[in-house]
Amino acid sequence: MKVLILETADTAQERVVSLIAQTMRDKPNAVLGLATGGTMLPVYEKLVALHKNGGPSFRDVTTFNLDEYVGLAPEHPQSYRSYMNDVLFGKVDINLQRTHLPRGDARNPEDEALRYEAAIAQCGGLDLQLLGLGHNGHIGFNEPTSSLKSRTRIKTLTRETRDANSRYFRADETIPTFAITMGVGTILDARHCLLLATGAQKADAVAAMIEGPLAAVCPASALQLHPKATIVIDMAAAAKLKLLDYYLHVHPDGTAREVV
Ligand code: GLP
Repeated sequence: MKVLILETADTAQERVVSLIAQTMRDKPNAVLGLATGGTMLPVYEKLVALHKNGGPSFRDVTTFNLDEYVGLAPEHPQSYRSYMNDVLFGKVDINLQRTHLPRGDARNPEDEALRYEAAIAQCGGLDLQLLGLGHNGHIGFNEPTSSLKSRTRIKTLTRETRDANSRYFRADETIPTFAITMGVGTILDARHCLLLATGAQKADAVAAMIEGPLAAVCPASALQLHPKATIVIDMAAAAKLKLLDYYLHVHPDGTAREVV
């Protein structure tokens, strides 16, 4: 696990954008795993700005999002498909046919999960999986006690997650109870995992993910098993790390220190 600690949320987002752009430069037809949530909004904003200012093209990129709410059609304003179209896909030169999210309105969500998992494999797997972090340590919608070997499937959302995401729904709207999410095992199969967490409210989950025991109760701790996991956090999210000084020593300002 590479722990990159940046001073501010802004510089942490910039680092994540530059790592995504590097993947796209190295492999113009990269398969990118994408994430949603509030943390990612400024990341996509910066990625779009970079793209418009001579940054890498999305023309040959394929994307798979982590998850989608069961019951929401793609056109629903709170669907993750709408989120992605609004903040990224509609603003870059991506071929929409190569952007994938699970269908929240599939007649049989369990079959849809299997189809989605197979589609990722058919594309040769994920080159880079972008991840946010839930307050309770979830990645995708893999809530605490998700199997660390799980594949794409239906998960019941915790009350905490539904409360946290209720800000995106109108008061008269029902917040979905279930989601289709890539499993922890699906995520761990990505060739590179890149997680961003910012703000003091994520500090407990960050500490559990990096320094806690490997445990299904904190699904993000499964990244400890990944051969290439990069964790990008700001100082506020890093506040509860016991080995903070060490991480800052290894990667001052989130850089890669030269071996001399
Ligand atoms: C959501 C998403 C996750 C996201 C997380 C954190 O429920 N399913 O992919 O990383 O919760 O969201 P936020 O960035 O808004 O804190």
